[in-house]
Amino acid sequence: MDGAFHTQLLPATAQPKDPAVEQAAKLLRQGELVAIPTETVYGLAANALNPDAVEKIFRAKGRPQDNPLIVHIASIGEMDALVTKIPDKARKLAEAFWPGPLTMVLPRSSRVPDVVTAGLNTVAIRMPSHPIARAVIRAAGVPIAAPSANLSGKPSPTTARHCMEDLSGKIPLVLDGGSCQVGVESTVVTLAGDIPRLLRPGAVTAEQLREVLGLLEVDSAVLDKVTEGPVASPGMKYMHYSPKASVVMITGPWSACKDFLVQKQDEGVWALVFDEDLRDCPLPAIGLGPQNDPAKQAQNLFSALRELDEKQARVVYARAPMEEGMGLAVYNRLIRAAGFSVIHLTA
Ligand code: TXA
Ligand code: MG
Repeated sequence: MDGAFHTQLLPATAQPKDPAVEQAAKLLRQGELVAIPTETVYGLAANALNPDAVEKIFRAKGRPQDNPLIVHIASIGEMDALVTKIPDKARKLAEAFWPGPLTMVLPRSSRVPDVVTAGLNTVAIRMPSHPIARAVIRAAGVPIAAPSANLSGKPSPTTARHCMEDLSGKIPLVLDGGSCQVGVESTVVTLAGDIPRLLRPGAVTAEQLREVLGLLEVDSAVLDKVTEGPVASPGMKYMHYSPKASVVMITGPWSACKDFLVQKQDEGVWALVFDEDLRDCPLPAIGLGPQNDPAKQAQNLFSALRELDEKQARVVYARAPMEEGMGLAVYNRLIRAAGFSVIHLTA
């Protein structure tokens, strides 16, 4: 462990010369780590061009070295130094969805340190829309490598308090910018091959990407467990988003779920259900959001998983979200939280 920190938690704004943002930028330039809000989840930021600083990210999170990081920029021009070419499709996507919750994987330039890309010949780039994230990147004056600011394996943080829970004592500063609006990590799409491929679903949906790109493949790791062989997005193969409880996903109509849950009543057994289900749920339960509002479910998902830990849930039965639109992003995170354990229930 290199140096324990007394972690400062500072409220930040995007006002010019905001003192918390200025301090974050100074720490980043000195090669230190800072947790910052973005519109998706909080990020654990380091100067992407400083390999020693980026190393600290892996140590603070306990992140496997072979899982590459996303580089965050504040203007399109900053891309030129990071990639060898910007394909037409990338320009179109940037025009449609940046700044915002979309990450593009492109052929990397030699200026990007190996530790950022885990030695891959591609680099993931995102231009966030959160005003504080943008202010920090601008003030630091360098591109920012930032994974989600959680301990590796834990649910991603959507509040500054979540960051403190995981990283207090390990980094010098957490900026508090309130709750994240999107709640799940950015959509990741690779443009490094011939056909664009969705590696991780997010708030920019597969349907929206197809409107711009025409053809889009969906990587098998989006819905299924990756077992053997090379993985397009290394992050997909790790256990993720897991609370301490063992999570089991249940599919099927609510009537069938209720019949199933009523038999599961026991100490420490909880349910994660849609808001409509709360009034007649046979188990103590947390509402994920309205059944037909996956954007709301995305906002709530990670804090709900952390709340279940606080309730000391041992087992959590979670209703499956829809797989369309933003539902796919919620489904993708929840099935990982469940370690791909699903029970199909029929009426
Ligand atoms: O919304 C987000 O993307 C947040 C905020 C902080 O921007 N960041 C985030 O980073 O979720 P992280 O490290 O938790 O997830 C990055 C994902 C991982 O699954 C990683 O494997 C993948 O992006 N990735 C990064 N570079 C890649 C590359 N060159 N090729 C393929 N996948 C890559
Ligand atoms: Mg992460």
